[in-house]
Amino acid sequence: MTNQPISFRSSGQSPSAEPGREGQLAASVAHEVNNPLAALLNILYMIESEATFTAQGRSYMKLAREEVLRISQIAHDAMDRIRDTAAPRESNVPALLGELLAFYHSRFESRGISILTRYCADGDLAVYAGPLRQVISNLLLNAADAMPEGGRLHARVSAAQEWAGAKRLGLRLTIADTGYGIPPDKLSKVFVPFFTTKGERGSGLGMSLIKDIVQKHSGVLRVRSSTKPGHSGSIFSIFLPAT
Ligand SMILES: Nc1ncnc2c1ncn2[C@@H]1O[C@H](COP(=O)(O)OP(=O)(O)OP(=O)(O)O)[C@@H](O)[C@H]1O
Ligand SMILES: [Mg+2]
Repeated sequence: MTNQPISFRSSGQSPSAEPGREGQLAASVAHEVNNPLAALLNILYMIESEATFTAQGRSYMKLAREEVLRISQIAHDAMDRIRDTAAPRESNVPALLGELLAFYHSRFESRGISILTRYCADGDLAVYAGPLRQVISNLLLNAADAMPEGGRLHARVSAAQEWAGAKRLGLRLTIADTGYGIPPDKLSKVFVPFFTTKGERGSGLGMSLIKDIVQKHSGVLRVRSSTKPGHSGSIFSIFLPAT
């Protein structure tokens, strides 16, 4: 395994301007929309588990579920955007991760990727929820891309203490895959904007965005990866301090 610890200990962001009235209206509409969406999603799950479908019908149901999740994600983003303009807010990190795993569930399933999760009991932390969702999305999508022939994805949130430095307390978010891994000479490059090995399919901006967002949280990002045949994979872990 090659190790790549990257630490950021800036004093954090200064709060930007308060949201305007239009932004507040958008956030409150998004908030109102989200409750019936959650109900609709539950109904879809119930129909799926009660009824018998043809293969075609099942794929339509799946599509409906994904689209509802997509709308819910947009609503969440709108709410987060407005919240994130002010200051970090207490959020439940395992719940954020769980939502995104549900959102991408069919993508993993269709590639034969099994998901293993482990969450700590108390996962509440003051975070910028919108950007943190972007971090998790990027890590999950990269992991899926790294396992075109299936594999395992481990997603964990644990109570943690910083490895070095001030030994701050906080949470550690870990996304690990059994994918093709990152060669040692490429490991430091993955954070460079526009570095991609995916040709036209990738912008190469995902990891550099992750770096910025971890920095915004005064967190620590660590990557380990191996390309050893039979034991290849990558582990991305992010320490988020409690204060
Ligand atoms: N889990 C992973 N396994 C293997 N390689 C990875 C993994 N995560 C990132 N990489 C490598 O890092 C590169 C940069 O990742 P990054 O997320 O920044 O961009 P991308 O995934 O190529 O494009 P985009 O995020 O826009 O879809 C990837 O192209 C890939 O080579
Ligand atoms: Mg990416």
